[in-house]
Amino acid sequence: SRAIDVPDRSLVVLVGAAGAGKSTFAAEHFLPTQILSSDHYRGLVSDDENDQGATDDAFEILHSVAEKRLSRGLLTVVDATNVHKHARQGLLRLARRHHVLAVAIVLDLPETVCVRRSTDRPDRSIRAGVVRRQHKDLQRSLKPLREEGFHKVHVLRDESEVNSARVRLNP
Ligand code: CTP
Ligand code: MG
Repeated sequence: SRAIDVPDRSLVVLVGAAGAGKSTFAAEHFLPTQILSSDHYRGLVSDDENDQGATDDAFEILHSVAEKRLSRGLLTVVDATNVHKHARQGLLRLARRHHVLAVAIVLDLPETVCVRRSTDRPDRSIRAGVVRRQHKDLQRSLKPLREEGFHKVHVLRDESEVNSARVRLNP
């Protein structure tokens, strides 16, 4: 198995296109209360997890919950695409403000896998073109990501790497 080292008081930032498996990965490796999902907060403020018009309000609440958790020294995982630098910077600022390390876990799965999984879903309406764009934005992000201020960037590139990953919390 492949160990992904995560400081036990850190801010974990998942990065990946729709369908990359972020929510599945989070549910497998972290407690439900540790996971802050943008879709969940979109649903809370708009009754519709798919309502992109609710994104700003959703992230405002997500950030504020993350703040409260980090100020208690609790491990916090952000389950959102985070393929844009702007989104990552807001999270990095949050981590800095609370003196915790930020760790990126990137699910860089093939575009075809992301498109297939996200367009197959009955509970989500996302166009293939949107997923392809996210995948492309992620490819552009990969190199700069390492210089943005993350303590560690873990990149998982295919299903076997994802399946063999084991999150190891370090005191
Ligand atoms: N899935 C799968 N095999 C995996 C991981 C995910 O078949 N190893 C399926 C899930 O069951 C789900 C879809 O792929 O139907 C998307 O997985 P999810 O974890 O929800 O992906 P996310 O990256 O969270 O996608 P989104 O950004 O849309 O929330
Ligand atoms: Mg998800």
